[in-house]
Amino acid sequence: MIQNIFLSGVLLLMLGQSIAFAAGGGSSASDALPKSNKIAADLGPSYSKEEMPYAPSYLTVKTDGHKKLTPELWTDPEICAQCHPRQYEGWNGSMHSNAFNDPVFQALWAIGEKETGGKLINHCGACHSPIGVATGTIKFNSDEGLHGTFTAPPIAAKGISCDVCHTISGTNLDKTKVMEHGNSSIIMEPGNVKRATLKDAVSPFHETEYSPIHQSSEFCGNCHNIFHPDNNFPVEHTYDEWKYSIYAQNGIQCMDCHMVPVDTAIRVADELKRPKDLNNSMLGGFVGIGGPYRDIVHDHAFVGGNAVVTEVMNGEKTGSSEEAMKRLKSVASLEMSIQPQDGMLHQLTVRVNNDRAGHNLPTSLTETRQIWLEVLVVGDNGQVLLRSGSLQQNNELPEGTVIFNSEAVDINGKHTEKPWEVTRFLRSNTIPPKGFKEANYAFNLPADSKTIKVITKLHYRSFSQGLADLLLGIDAIHVPSVNMVTNEHSYVVSNGQVKTASIDASHH
Ligand code: HEC
Ligand code: HEC
Ligand code: HEC
Ligand code: HEC
Ligand code: HEC
Repeated sequence: MIQNIFLSGVLLLMLGQSIAFAAGGGSSASDALPKSNKIAADLGPSYSKEEMPYAPSYLTVKTDGHKKLTPELWTDPEICAQCHPRQYEGWNGSMHSNAFNDPVFQALWAIGEKETGGKLINHCGACHSPIGVATGTIKFNSDEGLHGTFTAPPIAAKGISCDVCHTISGTNLDKTKVMEHGNSSIIMEPGNVKRATLKDAVSPFHETEYSPIHQSSEFCGNCHNIFHPDNNFPVEHTYDEWKYSIYAQNGIQCMDCHMVPVDTAIRVADELKRPKDLNNSMLGGFVGIGGPYRDIVHDHAFVGGNAVVTEVMNGEKTGSSEEAMKRLKSVASLEMSIQPQDGMLHQLTVRVNNDRAGHNLPTSLTETRQIWLEVLVVGDNGQVLLRSGSLQQNNELPEGTVIFNSEAVDINGKHTEKPWEVTRFLRSNTIPPKGFKEANYAFNLPADSKTIKVITKLHYRSFSQGLADLLLGIDAIHVPSVNMVTNEHSYVVSNGQVKTASIDASHH
């Protein structure tokens, strides 16, 4: 197995070099990059500046008349909070609210901004702070912090805020080079009309409009599909993974898992039914103060897997990080079997099932996220017959660990975790929705063994310690891992043969 590429040493060395390079080179650094690795400053001859003013992103803004675009055209979430406290509580502290301030994002963005000679504001910003890009108010302070920082006026710095989503009036799907949603292919139409999926909403504060796109995955796909702006490689493709899944085939949308409590999302995945079609789903309540009782109120924490940043940013465990843990612990199951090989040699096969993610496991930044197997086989006297995937003292994974992820390379075939350098994946080992991946391990069973115990665990973490050290500073954080699922089983051995039924259920 060629997993050692993920050892922090290599990573640090690689990324470390380019920082030194960027710091010394200033804007001329980009000229040293291979030509086709540059970020296109525009979308080529087929689009005019009027059509795609924020190229290479596909974001456009519609306004009445010739109003100057300022952040104040979008309303501060604090104001929405007065009548929509429940949505605000979910959103506040979520990854959407942190999308611009997220220190991990900012660090990588800053490194990229330097390496490309200042070409990443629109590309990265269009998804992480669409208001900042639309109003041209994002500032890069190259000398601040470890790598440089980005600042924006308060409303733009609130990332994907209420008004970002609820004033979107359409998509630019027909204009994207890849003919698919992505790279912020949204039409923003700031103003008093708030759009969502209620057909009869009446509000004393704003106008309302029924918007069919707000109830489909395409809405999310505008930002949850990332194409390299120059070579069009699909660096992140959560939406595409979903689009051809059994969930899409059953009409289940992103919202059906991510805008309901985890317990409901579990039922959605198991029964392949939308929340509104589940018996006793108990999702009712009030969506706005003064409005009528509604059968479904949508959660707004958009919980995914990120237990790290939500905690770092909020300085404490939040509802969001607990829900993230719960979601991670419900998604996969493990099965194992043992086959005798030659003599004492045995093969352990571990199967990892993606039971409940509506896309691959992991999804999105698959070159960065780590989901891996830890395996331990113990003999009669407690002697370790096999060990794999246990975190080392330095919080890195040992060589040979089975990791479910993708390995991205740049134009020269060199390993990279920088999205602006990615040209292709050498290998992708993520687990498809309702699919599985298997890993094989070999061990020797001592003669006269009576029992063996096999413990398998699946773990998740957002990124390696090496990447955290690089982005946030050495030892700024100790990257936490979540034990997603554990499977433990004792086997009886007689005459050198493993006896008991070989497949066991896993527990979370
Ligand atoms: C003064 C109270 C008030 C404020 C402030 C307020 N809303 Fe509303 N909003 C309501 C009420 C009441 C409803 C209707 C609820 C119902 O019919 O169940 C509503 C409905 C909505 C809907 C549903 C629209 C549809 O057609 O599905 C959205 C979306 C919405 N508001 C977003 C916002 C956003 C974003 C903000 C801040 C920019 C905001 N609201 C500020 C009271 C308010
Ligand atoms: C990432 C985009 C996004 C953000 C950010 C967001 N919403 Fe929503 N919201 C949605 C979508 C999508 C729906 C409709 C879901 C459906 O019907 O399937 C919705 C529904 C609503 C509704 C209608 C009631 C309901 O439960 O369907 C209200 C009111 C609302 N949001 C208010 C807010 C407020 C207030 C904020 C900020 C605190 C906010 N939203 C932030 C995407 C968003
Ligand atoms: C098309 C929209 C889009 C574009 C363009 C985009 N991102 Fe993101 N980014 C996302 C989404 C969505 C996530 C969340 C994925 C997840 O959590 O699994 C994300 C997550 C991240 C994260 C992980 C943050 C964390 O806390 O773990 C980093 C780092 C990041 N982006 C950096 C960048 C950089 C640098 C660029 C520009 C080169 C960029 N992104 C461009 C949508 C985008
Ligand atoms: C305007 C762009 C945009 C839209 C629209 C959008 N997102 Fe996101 N979303 C982001 C970005 C950017 C992040 C990551 C922020 C970060 O990690 O710094 C994110 C993060 C998330 C996460 C958190 C992942 C984690 O690691 O915990 C989930 C889940 C998510 N989005 C789901 C959705 C769903 C479902 C929809 C549609 C209803 C949606 N998003 C619409 C931009 C968007
Ligand atoms: C059947 C339920 C289900 C559906 C449908 C679904 N998801 Fe997820 N999603 C999950 C689960 C479970 C996780 C946690 C495991 C993981 O990280 O993959 C997750 C994780 C995520 C993450 C965080 C990934 C990470 O590790 O940082 C993002 C972002 C996300 N989903 C976005 C989406 C978007 C966008 C859609 C629609 C295109 C969608 N999801 C559809 C269940 C679902």
